[in-house]
This record gives sequence, C-alpha cells and structure tokens, in this order.
Amino acid sequence: MGIRIIGTGSYVPDQILTNRDLERMVETSDAWIRERTGIGSRRITEAGTTDMAVKAAKRAAEQAGIFPEELDLIIVGTSTGDCLFPGTACEVQAAIGAGSAACFDLSAACSGFLFSLNTACVYLESGEYETALVIGADTLSKTVDWSDRGTCILFGDGAGAAVVRREESAGCIGPFIMKADGSRGECLKCSAVPLRNPFLDKQEDAFGYMAMNGQEVFRFAVKTVPEVMEAVLEKAGVPAEEIQYFILHQANERILSSVAKRMRQPVSKFPMNLERYGNTSGASIPILLDELNRQGKFNRGDKIVLAGFGAGLTWGATFLRW
Ligand code: UT7
Repeated sequence: MGIRIIGTGSYVPDQILTNRDLERMVETSDAWIRERTGIGSRRITEAGTTDMAVKAAKRAAEQAGIFPEELDLIIVGTSTGDCLFPGTACEVQAAIGAGSAACFDLSAACSGFLFSLNTACVYLESGEYETALVIGADTLSKTVDWSDRGTCILFGDGAGAAVVRREESAGCIGPFIMKADGSRGECLKCSAVPLRNPFLDKQEDAFGYMAMNGQEVFRFAVKTVPEVMEAVLEKAGVPAEEIQYFILHQANERILSSVAKRMRQPVSKFPMNLERYGNTSGASIPILLDELNRQGKFNRGDKIVLAGFGAGLTWGATFLRW
C-alpha cells in the first residue's frame, strides 16, 4: 500500500495589492521590495479563510474525482481561522458536504500545511482512514500592521488543498521530519484573544498585530531548512541530485536561493510564485504544488521534497514520490 496525492486545488482572491500600492502607504519602494524579497504583488480577501479554503477544497476534490462523502478526514493548517471555534475544518466539512469526515485545525503558522499533510498520512498509514483532505489557508492580511514596512510588504492571502489517499500504488509520502523551537517564539508572533472580563484590573480592547524580527527569521530559515531537507533525504536514502523539485514555503526569494546554494542544487529546482502572491503562510506550499501539478510538471514516480518554516518557530521537510 502507498499513500498518494490524488488531487490538488488552490484559490487566491481577486483583489491585487501591488508594491506601488504599498509605496503610497509606507516608506518603501517597488525596487526595494523586489530586490530584498522578490515579491511584486499579493492578494487580499475580505471573504475570509473559510471561503478560500472551501474553494481550494472543491477544486482538489474535483481533480481527485471523489465525492465529498468519501472523505474520512479534513485537516486545515491555519493560524488565521475566521472563528476561534468552530474550527475552519468543520466549516469546510459543512460547506462541501463531507458529513462523515473527522475535522480539526492545526496551528503551525507557515509550516501548517506540511505538518497537516504529515499528520493526515499517519492517520492513513494507521489503516483507520482511507481518504483525507489537507488544506493550508491563511488570511494574514488581517494580522498585519499596515503601517509596519518591515512586515506589510511580505504577506498575502490564499488557500491550497490536496486530497490524499491510501491505495495500491508505488507513490509514497514520507519520511518526514517536523521540528519546533518554542524558545524562539518571540521573533515572529501575533497575540490572539484579548483579556476582557470584569474580574481583572487589566483589560485589553484589541487583537494584536503581527510582530517580526525579520533578520532573525531569515537566519533561522537559511540554516534550518537545508539541514532538515538533508536529514529527510538521508532518511529516504535518496540523494539530492535525484530530486525533481524542492517545493519550499514561499517567504523570500533570497531565502530560497540561499537554501539552493547551501544544498548545492540549481535554483531552477526550487520553483517560486512569490512574485505574484507574496508569503501566504500555510497556503504557500499547496498553492505552488497545485500550480505545478496543473501545469503538468509532475510525472508518476517523480521525487519531490516539501519544506516549510515559520512562527513557533516551526520547520520541517517531507519526501514524496508522486
Ligand atoms: O514565513 C516566515 C515569515 N518571515 C520571513 O520569512 C521573514 C524573513 N526575513 C526577511 O524576509 C527579511 O529580513 C526582510 C525582507 C523582512 C527585511 O529584509 P532585510 O534585508 O533583512 O532588511 P533589514 O531588516 O536588514 O533592513 C535593512 C534596511 C533598514 O534600514 P537601515 O537601518 O539600513 O537604514 C530597514 O529600515 O532596510 C530598511 N527597510 C526597508 N526599506 C524600504 C526595512 N523594510 C523596508 C521596506 N522598504 N519595506
């Protein structure tokens, strides 16, 4: 038995926010943003995370050729659900009519899709479930301080999804490695529910904005991502040269090219779409996966590595044979 991705889907909102738009809001320039990040524009939504997740999910289910009732499990990797409860996965279940699926959200920020995919695979491997829908969806536009030029230039909204199935096949997902270092949580943080009850002196009115130490996150990514990808390749017994694509979280073009250099692999093996969408957090890996899949870039048996990193700090890598 193997585990395969049998369908992918994605959705980005129509509203485009360009670097030129940001020039009118904060002291920055299109040239600076492009040179330091590779980003040209990003998408923003007013419809929210569930709306995008549902659209991506429907496209993935359609490509997989499954009925929603066949889904045993739905996991949504998100840190920006529309509600604290119910979870986004439950809302997706109701919207697509997947009534018998177990549903929960997984919070691992930009590593959210990767960790959700790995989690789904463990359930499938256990034999308990056969078909899972894994989604990465985030609306970071609602956490961004739009007066902070150090963060507002980076992020955008979107969703991506994959249907994963246990079946008789040579495909596989795994081995995988997932890592976290909670002691460095402060360098990328967004607080959630404010304190407000009549029994405390301290009252807070508003939700916090995202705060980031960009240089520290940059250094963390270029060090840990190559290490974790090397480690997962060693576990898989596959040399980096045999990998067709390294599909990485789309945070910054300079991070990706530095990782490629450290891996001694051509940057052409590291596809990017961040020029169009910026950093869509948990959605970035599945959106890119879906784009490449729909462009017909994958052949049966292709060896691929997925790698994510972000707040937590969290990071990880997964090997898969298409
Ligand atoms: O999912 C993970 C999420 N986070 C990340 O991936 C973030 C990783 N970090 C980064 O991508 C980069 O650190 C940034 C793009 C955030 C910043 O780039 P940098 O090359 O590390 O810039 P810096 O923070 O070292 O700042 C260099 C200069 C500073 O000016 P001075 O002090 O040299 O005069 C900043 O104030 O650039 C200035 N600066 C800007 N200038 C124009 C910072 N942001 C901007 C901006 N436009 N938007």
